[in-house]
Amino acid sequence: MRRIFRDPLMGCSRVSTTCVIGLQWGDEAKGKLVHLLAEQHEIVVRYQGGANAGHTVVSGTETYKLSLVPSGILVPNVRCVITGGVVLHPPALLAEMDGLTARGVQIGENFMISDRAHVIFPWHLLEDRLLDSERGNGESIGTTQRGIGPCYRDKVGRNHAIRLGDLFRDNFPEQVERTVAAKRAALSGICSGEDLATLDVANIARDYQELGARLRPFAGDTTSYLLDATESGKRILCEGAQGALLDIDHGTFPYVTSSNSSGVGISNGSGIPGRWINKVLGVVKAYSTRVGGGPFPTEQDNDIGQQLRDRGNEYGTVTRRPRRCGWLDAVAIRYTARLSGVNSLAVMLLDVLSGLPELNICTSYELNGERTRNFPSQVEDLRRVTPVYETLPGWEEDISGVKARSSLPKNALAYLARIEELVGRPVEIISVGPERNQTIHG
Ligand code: IMP
Repeated sequence: MRRIFRDPLMGCSRVSTTCVIGLQWGDEAKGKLVHLLAEQHEIVVRYQGGANAGHTVVSGTETYKLSLVPSGILVPNVRCVITGGVVLHPPALLAEMDGLTARGVQIGENFMISDRAHVIFPWHLLEDRLLDSERGNGESIGTTQRGIGPCYRDKVGRNHAIRLGDLFRDNFPEQVERTVAAKRAALSGICSGEDLATLDVANIARDYQELGARLRPFAGDTTSYLLDATESGKRILCEGAQGALLDIDHGTFPYVTSSNSSGVGISNGSGIPGRWINKVLGVVKAYSTRVGGGPFPTEQDNDIGQQLRDRGNEYGTVTRRPRRCGWLDAVAIRYTARLSGVNSLAVMLLDVLSGLPELNICTSYELNGERTRNFPSQVEDLRRVTPVYETLPGWEEDISGVKARSSLPKNALAYLARIEELVGRPVEIISVGPERNQTIHG
C-alpha cells in the first residue's frame, strides 16, 4: 500500500515568512524597516552579502550602524540568524558584536550563525583591492573592498574556500597553509612584497582560530533550524542586503555584488523553500542612488543630484563615499519588483523631496530609436538608453511629521499613486524620516 505523506505546511495557514528586498542599487533604508517589522516576528534572517552592507537604525535616542548583524538584534525576544549564504569576516563581525554589547544590546541565545558560512580572510581583502582596479575596460566596479567578491569566487571555485565550521577543526592550520601557498603564487605578480608579507600562515591561523573560538557558541546548522521554524509556523523575517539591481545574475552585471541580492536569493541564501515565502516587501527610495561604478540612466550629475545628496545625507554607511543621485527610475523598479515577487512597496525618504518644484519619474527608456519598458539585459545597452521622463509637480510642505497618508500634500499623494501605477504594486508603507514614528502605514 502506498504511504501518504502529508505536506507539513498544507494549506499554508501556518506559514509566515516575510522578506524585505531593496529594489534599487542598495541603501533604500531597509534597516529602518526591518527594525520596525522585527517586532511582529520571532526570527530575523540575514541570508546574503557580508560586511559590504550598512544598515542604519534609529532606536529611541540611539543610532546604530549595523553591517553583518541583522537589525532584529535591537528588538527583544527576536532570534537573529546569519545563514550560510552570507560571507563572514570574523574580525568585522566580532567588532560589531562587541560594539553592540558595550551599548547594552544582548547577544547570546538570540543569535545564531551558520557553520556553512564562508569566511573572508586577509587574502580576500587584498584581492578585492588589487583586482577591482585591474579590470580591463577602464571602469572599476568600485567595490566596498570588504573581500566579498573574492570570497564568493572561492566558494564557487571550491579549491580555496574555508567555512566557519572549518575554523573549529584541528586541521585548520594546514588548510590555511595550503591556501596561503596558492594565494601567494597567484598574487606574486601583481602584489607588493609588503602586501604579500601580510599573508603569514602562523599569524592568520592563530588569529582566526581565536576568532573562531569566540564565534563557536553561536555556530550551528541554520538551514535545519529555519526549516524546523518554518514548519512549526514561526514568524520569520528575511532581511535582504544591497538592492536587486546589484544581483549577480539579474542585475547590471558586471557592476553588481557577488550574491543574489534580488528576491531570487532568499531561498538559496537561507534554505527556506520559495513556496514557503508568503510576502515580499519591495523597498524603494523616493529617488535613486548608486554607489560605485556602472550605468545609472537617471543620474543627475548636477545641482539636483547635489541637493538630493545633501538633503538625503547620501554618503555610504560603510565607505562614506558620496552616493550618485538621480530621479526615480520606474522602469528599473518595475523590473526588480517583478523579479523579486514583490507584493507591496515601501517608499522611503519621501521627505527628502519636499521643496523641489518639480519631480521627474522615468517611465520608459528610449533605445535604438524605440521606446521600451523593459530593463536591458546588457550593460552596454543600459549605458545607451535615454530615460523618458514624466514631470510631476512637487510640494513645499515639510512632511516629516505627517502621520497619515491622507494628510500628505496632494502632490505627494499623486507622486505615490504614479509609482503604484508604473510599478504595478500598492504602496503599503511610507517613510518620512529616520525615526520609527516617522512611518505611515497603509
Ligand atoms: P562589493 O559588494 O563590495 O563587491 O561591491 C560591488 C558593488 O556593489 C559596488 O558598486 C558597491 O558600491 C555596491 N554595494 C555593495 N554593497 C552595497 C550596499 O550595501 N549598498 C549599496 N551599494 C553596495
